Amino acid sequence: MLSLLLCVPGFALAFDVAPHKVGDALPTADAQALLARYAARPQQPWREPSEARIPAGPAGDQIRDGIDILRNTSTRVGKLAPDASKRMNWNSLNCVNCHQAGPSGLPGSKKFTLPLVNAVNDYPKFDIKSGKIISLEQRAMGMFGAGAVPIKVEAPEFQAVLAYLRWLAQDTQPGAAMDGAGLLPMKAIARAADPVRGQKLYASKCQACHGVDAGGQRKPDFAQGGGYMFPPLAGSDTYDNAGHMFAVPLLARYIRASMPFGASADKPQLTPAEALDIAAFVNDDTTPRGQNPNRTKLYPDVALRPQGFAIPENFAGQPPQAYQRAKFGPFRNINEHY
Ligand code: HEC
Ligand code: HEC
Repeated sequence: MLSLLLCVPGFALAFDVAPHKVGDALPTADAQALLARYAARPQQPWREPSEARIPAGPAGDQIRDGIDILRNTSTRVGKLAPDASKRMNWNSLNCVNCHQAGPSGLPGSKKFTLPLVNAVNDYPKFDIKSGKIISLEQRAMGMFGAGAVPIKVEAPEFQAVLAYLRWLAQDTQPGAAMDGAGLLPMKAIARAADPVRGQKLYASKCQACHGVDAGGQRKPDFAQGGGYMFPPLAGSDTYDNAGHMFAVPLLARYIRASMPFGASADKPQLTPAEALDIAAFVNDDTTPRGQNPNRTKLYPDVALRPQGFAIPENFAGQPPQAYQRAKFGPFRNINEHY
């Protein structure tokens, strides 16, 4: 697939990992050097996509199909998709639930809410979570998770998603990072995030849509593949206890730029303390959530492990406060990269 990207003019130098290559696991020093090089990429301005620019014809149809899959993931390729041979996604979220739409209405076009506009240029990259250099295809496949039907690069649905990502990145500068990418940077607070305060805030600011138990609200045709009207933050249909969103600082930054629905990076509705407290409540270990049996294998290089990825297994033999502190802070760096 990388070769395909290389053939498309404009995508030639996504990020140059030489002398390493996709699949390599790197010793700490090499990984740190590559991460530093990645962080030092030139910056390009935000680019607002426009649906009106999608070309007519088969190429445009494939891009539109990709958009539809990001919007209606659960119906198209989710675990309740009417066509069982298409159940390639492991949960019942839609990609757009997390990669939200900005003013353009397109999935993955909202600033600081995990936008996908520059995704093509962000890979390959060293992924601290797996300890390896990964390609865009591997990252996007990882987002599907382990569905009932294994996702394949050749699947037309996957190719449509890639076509959309490539179209989104048209006119961008290869090898450059983008303003508005990732998550909204946030000021640290002096105290630990507090799930008890978070519970009260959740009840007043989130519960109306995401439900009393944070299980979301299902559409009437849920069982026919319709999925959720308001996506779940808890339970087995959302991110599991090893997902990126499971880290309290990451979730806090995410919701600050996007929730309650209508909030944005320009107009956040939560203070950093409120966002952290709510994230602590949502990601508390007492909240029911899918259990990832492989989570102890994640972030294999301890030196590169972000503080916010806190799982009790990694704190065996240490006082319980050590785990509590890792999970809820006070965080040494809320904006630490994942
Ligand atoms: C008015 C309804 C509404 C309110 C209130 C609301 N949300 Fe959401 N939330 C949504 C919708 C709708 C989406 C999916 C966005 C999309 O698909 O474009 C979403 C998506 C999310 C997601 C990402 C998807 C997922 O399921 O993990 C998180 C996390 C989230 N909301 C957390 C919160 C938190 C925390 C609050 C309270 C501060 C909150 N939301 C308040 C409607 C709401
Ligand atoms: C529960 C929330 C959630 C859902 C649902 C989700 N993602 Fe993601 N996605 C994330 C997070 C968090 C990251 C950032 C991870 C990282 O730092 O590498 C991410 C990163 C990505 C990236 C890399 C972007 C970049 O520039 O580095 C791509 C591409 C992507 N997701 C595609 C998808 C697709 C396609 C789907 C649907 C099949 C999907 N995602 C569903 C949370 C989600």
